[in-house]
Amino acid sequence: MLDSYAVIGNPISHSKSPLIHTAFSQQTHQSMQYAAILAPLDGFQTTVSNFRQQGGKGLNVTVPFKLEAYQLSTRLTERATIAQAVNTLKFENDEILGDNTDGAGLVRDITLNLGIPLATKRILLMGAGGAARGVILPLLQQKPFMLAIANRTPDKAEALQQQFVSCGNVVAGDFMSFPDERFDIIINATSASLHNALPELPAHIFAADALAYDMMYSHEPTRFLKFAQQNGARHLADGIGMLVEQAAESFFLWRGIRPRTKPVIALLKSQI
Ligand code: ATR
Repeated sequence: MLDSYAVIGNPISHSKSPLIHTAFSQQTHQSMQYAAILAPLDGFQTTVSNFRQQGGKGLNVTVPFKLEAYQLSTRLTERATIAQAVNTLKFENDEILGDNTDGAGLVRDITLNLGIPLATKRILLMGAGGAARGVILPLLQQKPFMLAIANRTPDKAEALQQQFVSCGNVVAGDFMSFPDERFDIIINATSASLHNALPELPAHIFAADALAYDMMYSHEPTRFLKFAQQNGARHLADGIGMLVEQAAESFFLWRGIRPRTKPVIALLKSQI
């Protein structure tokens, strides 16, 4: 029987994970299968145990179950503990290992694929929900000059600042709190792009050589990326690279092999 993996979420039919992991397994000649599982909103745990009982080896976890996956894990990696969210489960004997590969995926996409170092940079992280929380520590580990967290509800950004203040130079506020700063890297980790909305940012926050990065993606540039381009950002990126890189980190955790991501990013881009 082939080793079995899947992505679990609700909704799930849009997920690109089966395409990505099938490409990885073909490229690395791994004997495995990878499916998409729709779990009922109140049935995450039962669906996971059924999958395990049928011999499943690991799961990717997506919206809205990342917190439940965190709670279900019997052992957590440091990065999952800090993110308070799990996007990757690995089943070994009686143990459920929970990991979070989102932050590593973002950092690898920016530094390796886009070739933009984060060390000494001024970074603006927009958003203070689960997506933002998961990337803060990996960003700070790159030793930026400063990480500003901006959120529509500033209290949530300030709570994150308190949590991470010992890990680097972290400041917090709302989108209008940094009118005189010029940021080198501006990352949209809000869910605004999902609703085709645009957080209200000052127009002059993009430094001359700035990278604007939207964790979301769609067939055309998001409103945030259009705004960034109109206001001088030189580099624009959507979340496809991060999506493939976080998948590669999960694949590495499960199989001990790091797949090449560039051809898979190109494959996805050609399909979206
Ligand atoms: P996720 O897990 O995707 O981060 P979440 O935890 O619900 O989802 O967080 C959504 C984030 O997007 C929050 O930072 C939210 O801002 P608030 O904390 O003020 O709610 C942000 N967000 C959602 N829609 C937004 C919009 N139209 N403009 C600005 N921020 C928005």
